[in-house]
Amino acid sequence: MTCPGDAPALIFMPGGRDARLAATLLSEIGQPAEICPDLDRFVGALDADAAFGILTEEAVRHADLGPLAAAVAAQPSWSALPFVVLTRHGGGPERNPEAARLSELLGNVTFLERPFHATTFASVARAARRGRERQFETRAAVERLRRSEDTLRSALSAGRLGMWQLHPETKLLTVTPMMREIFGRSEGEPFGYEDFLASLHPEDRPGVIGTVEAAIGGSGEYRAEFRHIRPDGSLRWAEATARIEREPDGAVRLVGLTADVTARKSAEASQREQTEDLERRVAARTAELEQAHARMLDEIRQRERTEGQLLQSQKMEAIGQLTGGVAHDFNNLLMAVLGNLDLLSRHVGEDARATRLIDGAIQGAQRGAALTQRLLAFARRQELKVEPRDLAELVRGSEELLRRSVGDDIELSFDLPEGLPSAQVDGTQFDLALLNLAVNARDAMPDGGRLAIAVDLAEAAGEGDLAQGAYLRLSVSDTGTGMDAATLEQATQPFFSTKELGKGTGLGLSMIHGLAQQLHGALRLSSRPGAGTRAELWLPAAEMPAAARAAPAVAATHRQGGALRILFVDDDALIAMSSVDLLEDLGHHVIQASSGPQALSVLEGDAPIDLMITDYSMPRMNGGELSRRARELRPGLPILLATGYAELPEGASLDLPRLAKPYMQRQLAEEIARLGL
Ligand SMILES: Nc1ncnc2c1ncn2[C@@H]1O[C@H](COP(=O)(O)OP(=O)(O)OP(=O)(O)O)[C@@H](O)[C@H]1O
Ligand SMILES: [Mg+2]
Repeated sequence: MTCPGDAPALIFMPGGRDARLAATLLSEIGQPAEICPDLDRFVGALDADAAFGILTEEAVRHADLGPLAAAVAAQPSWSALPFVVLTRHGGGPERNPEAARLSELLGNVTFLERPFHATTFASVARAARRGRERQFETRAAVERLRRSEDTLRSALSAGRLGMWQLHPETKLLTVTPMMREIFGRSEGEPFGYEDFLASLHPEDRPGVIGTVEAAIGGSGEYRAEFRHIRPDGSLRWAEATARIEREPDGAVRLVGLTADVTARKSAEASQREQTEDLERRVAARTAELEQAHARMLDEIRQRERTEGQLLQSQKMEAIGQLTGGVAHDFNNLLMAVLGNLDLLSRHVGEDARATRLIDGAIQGAQRGAALTQRLLAFARRQELKVEPRDLAELVRGSEELLRRSVGDDIELSFDLPEGLPSAQVDGTQFDLALLNLAVNARDAMPDGGRLAIAVDLAEAAGEGDLAQGAYLRLSVSDTGTGMDAATLEQATQPFFSTKELGKGTGLGLSMIHGLAQQLHGALRLSSRPGAGTRAELWLPAAEMPAAARAAPAVAATHRQGGALRILFVDDDALIAMSSVDLLEDLGHHVIQASSGPQALSVLEGDAPIDLMITDYSMPRMNGGELSRRARELRPGLPILLATGYAELPEGASLDLPRLAKPYMQRQLAEEIARLGL
């Protein structure tokens, strides 16, 4: 584009001289000029870069002005090219129709009558140039505006922003192509405010309308995020911001931009989903780990408990074996001692001193026998008379004895319901156990306290030392000193006692423990120092109600009283010797055998035998086997089985009367008499 200073004035003055003159005058005021030889050339040069045109009226009077008119009409909006038309005197448009036509055709015209003064020409030319310069300024401004509009347009399109305007009163909406694109409309399709509202998601529509109204009503700002549905049915997200613009004439409009934010929204949603999913997975994994950890701790604790229980039961088993063995041998020795003392007492006759000494020895031996009984009980080898018994009834039977044993300082209470099922138990051993527990409680309450004894029905789930099932439970609870953990752990071990020497043997609880085990029950102790102790004896409920035991079958059709021919079988020479003496002292004839086979060979012979007394526990052939074979040889032969403890294999039911070792002559005589011999 030519800058205003360089823009040439176009001269069309046929007749050579006038044109040059004009060019000279113009150059004097610094205005370049171009002389056009004909109208075509003049019209051809009339472009945006020309400063103004100078022509004489007569030069175009007869010419075809069509091209000139077209060139003038084709000017851009900012341009109104000035023309200076030189007329003859009196040739101005006011009187000259030709000039008036030119004025109409050219628009921006100044008529200058000839002859004119050079200065007049110069000032008219200057005025035309100034006018043109203004137009150039406008052109530059329009150009700048256009460029900035272009920039804005390309920025909006690069940012994929749709622009729009809304007239609040008419609700006339004008939009850019991008705006249409965002809403899925093609160029020609109508897209008014109503169409816009109709495209909104029903849930978001009230919000958008409210925000528009608020912006128009006063806030002046509009900002919204909403869903809309394109004509193809797809759901999109858009974000819009707008502001109220006021025109100089006071009219308002809402001008704004809208962007499609579907991609961002779905990215946000999937991000949110991923985060939530991650959080869920982390939480689930954490919970899994916590559970696994808890399970592991539980297993460790369980294993430790099981190991502890196993260790404890192995220890008790070992002690039991040892104790049982010792007690067995000891019992046999006492048998011999007692038997001989018994006989001896008969031989000393009236010697009072000797009799006293022997009685003392017998008492000592009997106490020894009682001790071995307790040891055997712990070792679970005592002879038990197991039968269904009502525990409440048994406790009631011991009430008086218990009261006397615990004394007046202790408040004794009983809870003994009627009608409980029976328990499988040996009544005598149960009484002893109860007494032992009560005495322990008493010893733990030297300054008095409360002792509660109760019987109830309990259920074991089948864990620990008890098989699943119904049990009768004796509980003995005191408010005494209680036990610390170490004492509690050792309390059931034989010979463990915290009592001073001579006061406790430490066999009470171990005996009850052994008894409970032998009866398939359990002894359970719970205690804390200062908080008293509770001992529970669990015994299996009997399936059958308490009933009288069938009397042992005795095959006896022999004569009563008098001397008998007795076959005495025992592998222990000491016992055999004293027992034979006892029997002979009773007036019987004794044939001795030191083993089962030996006894059988006697029975195979034809020696008359009225009774066989046999030990149970013998090497190679035990008393049970011997008895069976003896009966084969001599059916109906009366047999007495001497047993020191529960040696009979479990389940073996020998229908034989028993003789409990150690026995004295009186018991021997009684058992023989009971056979009806
Ligand atoms: N009720 C109780 N309160 C506090 N400690 C008890 C109780 N019962 C038992 N013990 C503790 O357990 C130990 C062992 O008891 P256990 O009955 O086996 O033997 P003992 O009573 O010492 O002697 P024994 O019963 O042979 O005369 C007791 O010495 C005592 O320390
Ligand atoms: Mg005791």
